[in-house]
Amino acid sequence: MYTRMARSALAHSLFAFLLSLSFIPSSHASPPSSTFLFGGCTQQRYAADSAYESNLDSLLTSLLNSATYSSYNNFTVEGSSPQDVVYGLYQCRGDLSMPDCATCVARAVVRAGELCPKACGGAVQLEGCYAKYDNDSFLGVEDKTVVMKKCGPSDGYEAGPMGQRDAVLASLASGGGQYRTGGSGEVQGSAQCVGDLSAVECQDCLSEAIGRLKSECGTAVFGDMFLGKCYARYSTGGSGQHVYPQGHERESTDEGSKTFAIIIGLLAGVALLIIFVAFIRKVFEGNGK
Ligand SMILES: *[C@@H]1O[C@H](CO)[C@@H](O)[C@H](O)[C@H]1NC(C)=O
Ligand SMILES: *[C@@H]1O[C@H](CO)[C@@H](O)[C@H](O)[C@H]1NC(C)=O
Repeated sequence: MYTRMARSALAHSLFAFLLSLSFIPSSHASPPSSTFLFGGCTQQRYAADSAYESNLDSLLTSLLNSATYSSYNNFTVEGSSPQDVVYGLYQCRGDLSMPDCATCVARAVVRAGELCPKACGGAVQLEGCYAKYDNDSFLGVEDKTVVMKKCGPSDGYEAGPMGQRDAVLASLASGGGQYRTGGSGEVQGSAQCVGDLSAVECQDCLSEAIGRLKSECGTAVFGDMFLGKCYARYSTGGSGQHVYPQGHERESTDEGSKTFAIIIGLLAGVALLIIFVAFIRKVFEGNGK
């Protein structure tokens, strides 16, 4: 009992420490992959120092840890009682390298904490990654709700680029895989599913996103259509376009590896502490005999 409490308090303070450190690199200019696109929170809140809070902390730590080696993962942290269970996942954009993925997920988690203090569930989409947690299981569930839609201005309409736009969207719709990109002339497009969807669900979700993008953004110079579990976006070189990194991430190296080094260092520290706690526990157990 004692070690259990000590361990959860330890996980808690380590997590707070980790979060506070991940603020450091953001004093530099934000890299494009961490540009905030949207976020949302549940109405329900959890109590401070509750079992739910400590489960959420371990879940978020698992997300950060996993993002150093995988571009998608999901986690479920079971509590001692069923109402304390928390589910979460993250998905990095298909072209992000591992250090950039870890940096992005760390920023998304920090942002969710700022946006949704004490909310049971939160979700944040940055340019380079998506992270979500909730006490209601959403893992493996296809969700085609429109979460964020943004269409650029339609002035500057030209038949040429719009024809190219339609061709790029058609290639995204017919391409395979969870992450798809396409380009023609000035027109660039990309689409991606969250990794918990099957290939069939992903195709279904992307068809919906691409169809809506085309019909709802009309002849806009750019369009973003984010559904619950997938998105499709395009930009034409037209005036009034927004800029988003397509295909390559130039910013990353320095800042990305610095944050990556910090994260790796922290995770190594966490591992050492867990070993230390296990050792102390053995010593206590030994004395109890
Ligand atoms: C999530 O937590 C809230 C607040 O404790 C609770 O009202 C709600 O029923 C929970 N949802 C699930 C699916 O457990
Ligand atoms: C969640 O992660 C587990 C273990 O990595 C995996 O087996 C499972 O398929 C994942 N579930 C979903 C819905 O992605």
